[in-house]
Amino acid sequence: MSQSRTTHSRGRVDREGAGVTSTEELRKKVESVLTRSRARSAVLTESVDDTDLTAQHSPLMSPLVWDLAHIGNQEEFWLVRDVGGREPVRQDIDELYDAFKHSRSSRRSLPLLTPDEARDYVSTVRDKVWDILSSSPLDGRRLERDGFAFGMVAQHEQQHDETMLATHQLRTGPAVLHAPRPPGPSVAAEGEAVIEGGEFSMGTTLDPWALDNERPAHPAYVPTFAIDIAPVTNGQYQQFIDADGYDRPEFWSERGWAHRTAEGLRAPQFWDRDVDGSWWRRAFGVTEPIRPNQPVVHVCFFEAEAYAKWAGKRLPTEAEWEKAARFDPSTGTVRKYPWGDSEPTERHANLGQRHLEPADVGAYPAGASPQGVQQLIGDVWEWTSSDFGPYPGFEAFPYAEYSEVFLRGDYQVLRGGSFGTDEVACRGTFRNWDHPIRRQIFAGFRCARDVADV
Ligand code: AVJ
Ligand code: FE
Repeated sequence: MSQSRTTHSRGRVDREGAGVTSTEELRKKVESVLTRSRARSAVLTESVDDTDLTAQHSPLMSPLVWDLAHIGNQEEFWLVRDVGGREPVRQDIDELYDAFKHSRSSRRSLPLLTPDEARDYVSTVRDKVWDILSSSPLDGRRLERDGFAFGMVAQHEQQHDETMLATHQLRTGPAVLHAPRPPGPSVAAEGEAVIEGGEFSMGTTLDPWALDNERPAHPAYVPTFAIDIAPVTNGQYQQFIDADGYDRPEFWSERGWAHRTAEGLRAPQFWDRDVDGSWWRRAFGVTEPIRPNQPVVHVCFFEAEAYAKWAGKRLPTEAEWEKAARFDPSTGTVRKYPWGDSEPTERHANLGQRHLEPADVGAYPAGASPQGVQQLIGDVWEWTSSDFGPYPGFEAFPYAEYSEVFLRGDYQVLRGGSFGTDEVACRGTFRNWDHPIRRQIFAGFRCARDVADV
């Protein structure tokens, strides 16, 4: 453990993006992100009954009650045992909640904590964490410096909250989650921005809560390219369907076509066609006509790729996506978010499960990048053409099982976060990844294309 356990409130450097100047302020920030994530976990697990909590809604997902206890187990591991140096609360359940020991589809038949036991467990752990937070200097060794371990645990809980939201989307039955509609469009969101070729600083070294795979900052050269101002919408995607896009192998990669054929893909997941030809979608227990100006969601990487080819374009690389999102050509510097370094508000982006669907394109002019690219953060995760690989100088921290074991696997990088992502787990450098066939995540895409250097 670190040398000093005393509470102190010395000034600290205002780190890139953190906006935190004292230990007391940092503690308040930790308290607020942990409280917010627990409120979300509570909504997601208290809105259904015990039968539902322990059910397997899809072979792709864990029972919700597993996610809940796993959240507590990770929090116990990093904050109670490691940072706090305390005795284990429930060492006997570590194996049950180790994501690498049991496949998602087999977790239902494990001797899991019951819903009441899981709730007791996470609240016992959280009470200890409050105590540890009040005496932690949030400094010292790397795990504790700038409150990293607390930030990591909050991001972990929020990532599982997004996973649990995807489980809710897969479950059948009447609606149990409710949220207001997102804001409507207030500006046009058509066309492309041309991002001039050149180097920019990709990734981050200084952002204190950035995870290992976002590190370190490194120069990346990106040739001139054009990127769409907005994600591809349902209406645009429907044109691809109407143009027989699903039946024309010339738009699909070889692997994509094999997958499309084997699975009989005809439309995004959760879409259904009425006898009159109109398209409907089911979202969180409610079936309604598709909204033509919303970004398309629940498409796999192969569908995104095929659409882009049909449109005469391609998907952006993750370096292109990040340059479009962070680079300011007037200063040559990068920002944490497209709009600057200030934390997201509801004016900037559709994040945090405030709404349970993407907003129409053009709904967030305040969130635009310096070059006018909109809705990069929030609404839908965006598939990129890049495989999930390490940045030059990558170092696994604090555990290989977060990123390292997935690097160079069969994963595509997704960027930007969705309506289901909390702001603590989302920024211009944040990297998500999934298998190219996955559709249950809240993923859409935007297109890019080559432009000759001038
Ligand atoms: C970064 C979303 C791919 O859900 O597998 C949760 C996040 N890692 N617990 C996942 C994660 C460990 C991860 N993704
Ligand atoms: Fe996890």
